[in-house]
Amino acid sequence: MSQPVQAPSVYPASDEFVASAHVDAAGYEAMYSASAADPAAFWAEHGKRIDWIKPYTKVKNTSFEPGNISIKWFEDGQLNVSANCVDRHMTTRANQTAIIWEPDHPDTPALHITYAQLLENTCRMANVLKAHGVTKGDRVVIYLPMIPEAAYAMLACARIGAIHSIVFAGFSPDALSNRINDSEAKCVITADFAPRGGRKTALKANTDAALLHCDDRVKCLVVKHTGDQTSWVSGRDIDVKAEMAEVSPYCSYVEVNAEDPLFILYTSGSTGKPKGVVHTSGGYLVYASMTHQMTFDYHDGDVFWCTADVGWVTGHSYIIYGPLANGATTIMFEGVPTYPDAGRFWEVCAKHKVNQFYTAPTAIRALMGQGAEWVEKHDLSSLKLLGSVGEPINPEAWNWYNTHVGKGKCPIVDTFWQTETGGHLITPLPGAVPQKPGSATMPFFGVKPVILDAATAEVQTETAAEGVLCITDSWPGQMRTLWGDHARFEEAYFSQYPGYYFTGDGCRRDADGYYWITGRVDDVINVSGHRMGTAEVESALVAHSMVAEAAVVGYPHEIKGQGIYAYVTLMNDVEPTDELRKDLVKWVRQEIGPIASPDLIQWSPGLPKTRSGKIMRRILRKIAENDYDALGDISTLADPSVVEELIANRMNRR
Ligand code: WTA
Repeated sequence: MSQPVQAPSVYPASDEFVASAHVDAAGYEAMYSASAADPAAFWAEHGKRIDWIKPYTKVKNTSFEPGNISIKWFEDGQLNVSANCVDRHMTTRANQTAIIWEPDHPDTPALHITYAQLLENTCRMANVLKAHGVTKGDRVVIYLPMIPEAAYAMLACARIGAIHSIVFAGFSPDALSNRINDSEAKCVITADFAPRGGRKTALKANTDAALLHCDDRVKCLVVKHTGDQTSWVSGRDIDVKAEMAEVSPYCSYVEVNAEDPLFILYTSGSTGKPKGVVHTSGGYLVYASMTHQMTFDYHDGDVFWCTADVGWVTGHSYIIYGPLANGATTIMFEGVPTYPDAGRFWEVCAKHKVNQFYTAPTAIRALMGQGAEWVEKHDLSSLKLLGSVGEPINPEAWNWYNTHVGKGKCPIVDTFWQTETGGHLITPLPGAVPQKPGSATMPFFGVKPVILDAATAEVQTETAAEGVLCITDSWPGQMRTLWGDHARFEEAYFSQYPGYYFTGDGCRRDADGYYWITGRVDDVINVSGHRMGTAEVESALVAHSMVAEAAVVGYPHEIKGQGIYAYVTLMNDVEPTDELRKDLVKWVRQEIGPIASPDLIQWSPGLPKTRSGKIMRRILRKIAENDYDALGDISTLADPSVVEELIANRMNRR
């Protein structure tokens, strides 16, 4: 009788892959040890991978000491990020494709934008910004679809030293106006419409609505992308393409300090409104470009595709800054994985002969559900490596990705990182570290993870350990502050476990020293790889006139990773109806955006509260997870009977 074949739990890269990889196992050991032993010396060397107008003499000046959190890298160096991503390639690769733009509909021809064209368009965009008074240090909000102008706008800001803040095009007018106001932006760059999956989002109309709540002086630069009619406010609205055609094709770049901000990116936290994460210029670029090259084992001439949106940090670091600093060919995809059919990703891989493909587990799970035949139709022989980001990848999805997309020959890099970290923190280097499905494996150079006991904050010294994940020392890609609120920065990341950067994630380390991220331990949930603060959804719900109270938690969701489960208490005389449930979902979509739509709403006449009135979210989480046998002690509740009622009427029944 034949034995069932046990799938191997460790997957080393093939000998062929290792032979050509930038870093092999011995190389990783040596470089990692060097980076940990003397970070300043290590980064002094690797900081040279980018061009400096004035070279740095100081490398690392960082402190995680409570009350004095300060992070500076290469602090006396001067550079320009746009010059690094564009101009410096002009002598060697002016006619090489920098960006392949793949439109929403496959019948619309793709664009191949060379480095020379990228330079010209970036300069033209920069000149338009300058013409409207944008100068060094000003903030520019970018609210665009995935179109080349988004790249030009980012690089144009970097060129003139302006600070961009991209707002994902799926966000609502409210979310947009909050970000314009918080960053005190001088202008917003938007488009008429954003086509996606065959539908169009009215970005200009959203921007008009947002600008009603902003300073009258905020200019609105509109990219006429689809050409459809929109409203037009003369004196405020500017036709970007028309002005780009008029201005000079060259714009010189300014010198900025390594620690001058490059961008602000708002992200969800466990409490309050979204936080404006600030990344600066020198350290961020060094880290984005180095991780892009090493993690993806990127080689000159490869075609790299990161399927994220530039509205998220993944798009910043691995569609734009990392790849372009490395002189790569990077793909910008306007569409979605399932339009016009579930084979679109693979069709694009075949069409552009993609070598490295980087996506999120939620997309893999969704496509897995459509069947492998959609993959088999396309020639994926160009693929050398696959990547995953955004949430832990479940072994089933990992195996499907490996077998059907990678054909068993592509290493899969499971990259753990955050908006705050600028680039990968824990990830296999593909030629060096054998993969284990579901594990982000080992730290990148210069990253020193520790696992602390969540309750006692004690450092777990055994190799095999479990607890919360913290980092003991700074790396160049780390965020520097929260825009306008350094105190909140300290409070959010350095106060819970003093002396450490706290990721907010739980983590397990196995006996081989591999790290396994177990998910957020705070009130942040991860829906389809997008971060969402439960507090944000709650405050949207209670803003509805019929809602008295709301508590939101995450629950396991087959495709999305986590779904949004809302417990809603209605105003006294309001009838709970299916109609109202639909209304509330629509309401939240309007308030925040479609990514925040509650999946399940449970009418809850009472919520479990302590006698001091604090909602016991632990209990709500357990009920949402169907784990109501493990509710723990409920005796401290003001009214323990609400728990029975909630269990009896729970929405997530399996
Ligand atoms: C989660 C996205 C497990 C994690 C780059 C983190 C992951 C949050 C992984 C950051 C991964 C990201 N394995 N979990 N490979 N990658 N996460 O800021 O909970 O949108 O804290 O950055 O996503 O999400 P953010």
